[in-house]
Amino acid sequence: MIFELNAKDAQTKARAGKITTDHGVIETPIFMPVGTVGTVKGVHQRELKEEINPDIILGNTYHLYLRPQLDILEKAGGLHKFMNWDRNILTDSGGYQVYSLSANRKIKEEGVKFKSHIDGSYHFFTPENVMDIQRTIGADIIMAFDECTPYPCDYGYAKRSMHMTHRWLDRCINRLSETEPKYGYEQELFPIVQGSTYKDLRKQSAEYIANAGAFGNAIGGLSVGEPAEEMYAMTEVVCDILPEEKPRYLMGVGTPINILENIALGVDMFDCVMPTRNARNGMLFTAHGTINIKNKKWEDDFSPIDEMGITFVDTYYTKAYLRHLFAANEFLGKQIASIHNLGFYLWLVREARKHIIAGDFATWKNMMVQQMNKRL
Ligand code: GUN
Repeated sequence: MIFELNAKDAQTKARAGKITTDHGVIETPIFMPVGTVGTVKGVHQRELKEEINPDIILGNTYHLYLRPQLDILEKAGGLHKFMNWDRNILTDSGGYQVYSLSANRKIKEEGVKFKSHIDGSYHFFTPENVMDIQRTIGADIIMAFDECTPYPCDYGYAKRSMHMTHRWLDRCINRLSETEPKYGYEQELFPIVQGSTYKDLRKQSAEYIANAGAFGNAIGGLSVGEPAEEMYAMTEVVCDILPEEKPRYLMGVGTPINILENIALGVDMFDCVMPTRNARNGMLFTAHGTINIKNKKWEDDFSPIDEMGITFVDTYYTKAYLRHLFAANEFLGKQIASIHNLGFYLWLVREARKHIIAGDFATWKNMMVQQMNKRL
């Protein structure tokens, strides 16, 4: 796997780069649509590829391990083949999902015992078996097993948890060095910076993670309820320490505005359920602000969903029709809104890349932030 930097913005810390893997090129900054259980919810793979066109999507170790389970994924030849997606995949390690989803869990130095949210059965994740599981799922980029601390989090807990995440990283690295990819293409590990909202812990963690010498680095434990200003402050501290020549991934972020602000701080990769989850609730993101399509004001508005026409749904359907689909609780409404929102998110990061390369990112970013900060 190779990462090259193509351009750096003069006024901000934004960068444009390119990751080349065995499944193709990922142009950065990138937004990775979330495909938790091997499907980007509500979007066919063909629409995903042809309309939204992301270079990479995300899957979740926690979910895929519980269902369809590893024997099926292995028999299929890995997740790419199982879901018929021949571009890149990144899997999160479960370090977030075991805390947010399982009915109860017990964290120890050895690992995390948790109860399945599906059938109540008990399971145990360790740094070692999470690496093995991600070998079997077969994503191109795999994440270290970590603890994502909640917000707020007291200093003592955040510090102890961060040190455990660091020790777990060493165990992940050891396990990977003893095992091989299963399907003939390369897999790279991204370790995760933690440290809650404490600058000194974030610095310490970023130094530890940078020292691990991985292909790329991630920032976790953010977008967990803290004010945006605190998130930006942590990203800034961490990006100043993480090596410039490696990709940086900010996990679970965020709104279109959060994404642009973090690109300006030097982040290259993002993922978030927001475009798809909010779409299913009738919330549309546009370059001019957000729309709640369930609102009565759209009842007889026969203008296109989005005049920009980034994906075909934007001009194929009217706001009034989409509102009707939501009012009638029809599947198609959620599908249309999901395609629209993902198309918009991918458009946004591609535009950011263009403006970084053109040299006017800062002006464009400020204009976009102002423009998007509205409810229509
Ligand atoms: N997704 C969002 N935040 C996190 C985090 O801190 N750790 C992991 N593993 N996944 C995340």
